Amino acid sequence: MSMSGLRTRATLHDVVPAFVRTPDPSLIQLAANETAYGPLPSVLEALAREIAHVNRYPDDGAVGLRHAIADWLGVESARVALGAGSLGLLEQVMLALCDQGSEVVYPWRSFDVYPQLIRVAGATPRPVPLQEERNDLDAMLESVNERTRVVIVCNPNNPTGPGVGRFELKSFLHRLPGTVAVLLDEAYFEYVRDPDMPDGLTLLRDHPNVAVLRTFSKAYGLAALRVGYLVAGRPIVEAVDKTHVTYSVSRLAQAAALASISAQDELHGRVEATVRERNRVREALLSQGWQVPTSEGNFVWLRLGAASHAFGKGLGRWGVAVKVVPNEGVRMTIGTREENDVLLEAAGAVREGVLSDAEQLPAE
Ligand SMILES: Cc1ncc(COP(=O)(O)O)c(C=O)c1O
Repeated sequence: MSMSGLRTRATLHDVVPAFVRTPDPSLIQLAANETAYGPLPSVLEALAREIAHVNRYPDDGAVGLRHAIADWLGVESARVALGAGSLGLLEQVMLALCDQGSEVVYPWRSFDVYPQLIRVAGATPRPVPLQEERNDLDAMLESVNERTRVVIVCNPNNPTGPGVGRFELKSFLHRLPGTVAVLLDEAYFEYVRDPDMPDGLTLLRDHPNVAVLRTFSKAYGLAALRVGYLVAGRPIVEAVDKTHVTYSVSRLAQAAALASISAQDELHGRVEATVRERNRVREALLSQGWQVPTSEGNFVWLRLGAASHAFGKGLGRWGVAVKVVPNEGVRMTIGTREENDVLLEAAGAVREGVLSDAEQLPAE
């Protein structure tokens, strides 16, 4: 209770508002895993046409977009839900599947918003440490109990980079009770090149408890418009739709997502460029002496422990903004070739000072 006697929801008392700070815009932006290339040209044209209609509310059920996504992916439209970014859908899933006292198992360190969303839904977060920078599915399974409603699998894992393989994931799903939902967060799906990693959609037929979460924010370059989609069995989609905030997927977001589906040719080149640059940046960092896990996303991770802050500060002086996870590591988004060159030069320059007190992982 506050001084005024006003009462707020008890489960929120442990929650602190989680506004993500945007870096100084004058820096090279390698902190938020956005694409460096701007929106796709044909999507910009679609947006320019749609902007004249923003006096009208959007189609709240996003019928056209749902059907287009369903046709594109080859699933029924009743199995597709839309939300305000995958974050909006993550919140909807938690509200749809959890009761007060339910538990949600998730990997840690992973996407930092997970525990916040779990608490806001009144559920209890059950983090499970990573194993060699990837989700430890065996340990996650051991954390499941009768209160568990959802297990989040982040594939590939943000911020560390590696993903779990098809065989491992299938074996996990076979052992997990079908009453527990698996939220497979594939925010970086377009960047995955490891042939061993599964396309989550192929798991849906045998596992109705799986929900695949994807976004137009990352590879498609629509981070500010806030539109993501979920593909799952009908019972999950029906429950998730009940938690939809009216009009939360805006007219511009729907128009841009629709145009994005038809812009695969435009998307292809830039995604390939990012994958090439990811490999080049990793190789260059390795040859500078850093330990760098493989990455299937548009970012790389250095587990620098106590030296993370110094590294982030050092890069800031070189005009590069990266994401520092205090006392754990630093995540660097793959930018354009020129941006990555600055990143590499900066990493090389701060190396001496940082590596001496870094808790680097032992060499493989
Ligand atoms: C693993 C993961 N999931 C979800 C998101 C959220 O993306 P959005 O809400 O923009 O779709 C991010 C963004 O960084 C992410 O890394």
